[in-house]
Amino acid sequence: MPVSEPNKIYQEVIDALIAMHRLTDGYTPNHEDQTAELAVMIGRHLRLPAERIDVLHMAAQVHDIGKARIPLELLTKPGRITADEYGVLKTHVQFGYEMLNKISFPFNLAEIVWCHHEYLDGSGYPRGISGDALPFESRILTVADIVESMSADRPYRKSLGMAVALEEIQRQRGSRLDPVVVDACLHVVQEHNWRPIAN
Ligand SMILES: [Fe+2]
Ligand SMILES: [Fe+2]
Repeated sequence: MPVSEPNKIYQEVIDALIAMHRLTDGYTPNHEDQTAELAVMIGRHLRLPAERIDVLHMAAQVHDIGKARIPLELLTKPGRITADEYGVLKTHVQFGYEMLNKISFPFNLAEIVWCHHEYLDGSGYPRGISGDALPFESRILTVADIVESMSADRPYRKSLGMAVALEEIQRQRGSRLDPVVVDACLHVVQEHNWRPIAN
């Protein structure tokens, strides 16, 4: 996606980080790419200004960059994981935030990434923040992340199917997930027939 001229340098920084991440993990950057595509479609449907779409896109492209610090065996482990392993997986959000926060972006990219597993009702992580404390872009990213994750094949399991993914976001609509974003996502997936590209 071409970014506007003032953001070109930031997109280049993001591209460099992704290239580095791809050296050790062939899966996560593809998941991030697909999530970014869906997030941008939701943002456009909700008429987010072009500047904020750029930031949403870049944030989504690196939202799981903190997974570069998690052992690949754990990221790709099939079947059930232990509570301890889940605790380790969750640290990717804080790692990612700290990495991205080193860069003086003139916008809230690191904050959006920090919030991508937070929920409106405060039941998410790492900080358990809620409601208005969650940037709108992160609410979009959260919904796109869930739909991409469930509808795509992952290294540790096959796709659960788009119908199951859409049922899941409808189940969480208004409690954990922003209802406006859920409705926009349903529209985009159904009207534009969005599907993740098989990796
Ligand atoms: Fe994540
Ligand atoms: Fe993700």
